[in-house]
Amino acid sequence: MPGAELAGKHLVLGMTGGIACYKIAELTRLLTKAGATVQVVMTDAATQFITPVTMQALSGRPVYTSQWDARIANNMPHIDLSREADAIVIAPASTDFLAKLAHGMADDLLTTLCIARDCPLLAVPAMNRQMWQNPATQRNVAQLRADGIELLGPDSGPQACGEVGDGRMIEPEAAYEAIVSFFTAKTLAKRRVLITAGPTFEALDPVRGITNRSSGKMGFALARAAQQAGAEVHLVAGPVGLDTPWGVYREDVQSAQQMYDAVMHELAIGAYDVFIGVAAVADWRVDHVSEHKIKKTAERQVPNFTFVENPDILAAVAKLPNAPYCVGFAAESGDLDVHGEEKRKRKNVPLLIGNLGPLTFGLDDNEVVLFEEAGATKLPRAGKHTLARTLVAEIAKRLPGRNPPA
Ligand code: C5P
Repeated sequence: MPGAELAGKHLVLGMTGGIACYKIAELTRLLTKAGATVQVVMTDAATQFITPVTMQALSGRPVYTSQWDARIANNMPHIDLSREADAIVIAPASTDFLAKLAHGMADDLLTTLCIARDCPLLAVPAMNRQMWQNPATQRNVAQLRADGIELLGPDSGPQACGEVGDGRMIEPEAAYEAIVSFFTAKTLAKRRVLITAGPTFEALDPVRGITNRSSGKMGFALARAAQQAGAEVHLVAGPVGLDTPWGVYREDVQSAQQMYDAVMHELAIGAYDVFIGVAAVADWRVDHVSEHKIKKTAERQVPNFTFVENPDILAAVAKLPNAPYCVGFAAESGDLDVHGEEKRKRKNVPLLIGNLGPLTFGLDDNEVVLFEEAGATKLPRAGKHTLARTLVAEIAKRLPGRNPPA
C-alpha cells in the first residue's frame, strides 16, 4: 500500500444494488488505509447484497440508507452528507442508478444526495453485458459523461451471470488507483514518458546469469506517479516481481542490450517528452553466451569469462538529436556528492537523482539528492511512492516548452 496518499480526503461512497457490492468491502479498506474518511450510503437494493453492518465495520462510520434518517440533527442527510465531501463515488453503479442519475431523479437518499451535491461525482459501473450494451444505458452513459460525471470502467470478462463481456466492475485495486489519480494534479498532462526500471539479467549460459539487487520499486513507483499526473507512460522493465501500475504500458526485457533496443525502438516510432533511466543496467555482459550449460570438467573446474561493455542507454538517449528531457539515477556506495554531479555531466543529462546512504535496493523508502546545473538539492526521506510523486512534480516543473497546469 503506497502510504497515506488520500489523507485529508473525505469521500461519500454510494453503493447501489449489484453482486459487485462484495468488491466494495475491499475498496473501502483500501480507501481508509490510504487515509481517506469514507461515509457509506447504501440504496435498499445494495443492502440485499451486503449488510450495512459490514460496511460500518470497514469504514468505521455509521452507514446511511434512508432519507428519513433522524441521526442528522436538521433531518437533511441528503444535504449534510455531501457538504464536506471531496467527491462522491458510486460503486457499484447499477444500470438503474445510472439511468436515475442521467435523468436527475431524486427518489431516495443516494439519488437526492447526488443531485444536491457540490462536489465531483465518480461512478464505477457494474452490470450484465447486455444491460451495459443496451442503447438506453449507452444513451445514459453519454449523458452522464456530458454532465461531467467520470465513469471508471467497466471492465470486460467473465460475469456473475455466467456470461462474458463488457460490464463487470473494475477490480477494487483499479478503482482505488483511479480515485487516487482523480485527486492528482495533472502536471504531466499530454506528456509522453519513457521509463526503464529494475535490474537486467546477463546470461552466461541457458540457466545462469549475472544480475543485481534492484527490485524495480522506484521505477514502478515513478511510472505510477507519472501516469497519475496525466502522462502516457511506457515502462521498459527488467526481470522483477512487481504488478504493472494501472494505466501504464509495460514491456518486459531481460538483458541490457534488449533494454537498449526496446528504448531506441520506442524513441524511433514516437516522440517522448521525458526519459527516466531508473533501471540498474549491467555495465558488462559476457562476450559469448554458452549455448549449453557450462559443466565442470576434469581439466576446467572454474570457467573463465571475457566481458564486453553494454551500451549506456541513458547516455545514448541524451545524445539523440531530438532527445527527450533525460533524468538519470545513481546508486553509489559512497561519495555521492562527487560521483552524482560527475555522472550527470558525463552522461550529459539535465537532472540526475542520487540515492543517499546505504544502497536502497529492495527497500520501500529512499532518500535522494537532485543534481543539476544549478546545484544539488536534498529531498527528505520518504516512501518510494511519496518520493515518486515529488520527483514527478519536480520533473514537470523543469520541462521545456509548455507550462504544466497549476
Ligand atoms: O553509470 P551508472 O550505472 O551508475 O549510471 C546510472 C544511470 O545510468 C541510471 O539512470 C541508469 O539507468 C543509467 N544507465 C543506463 N545504461 C547503462 C548503465 C546505466 O541507462 N548501461
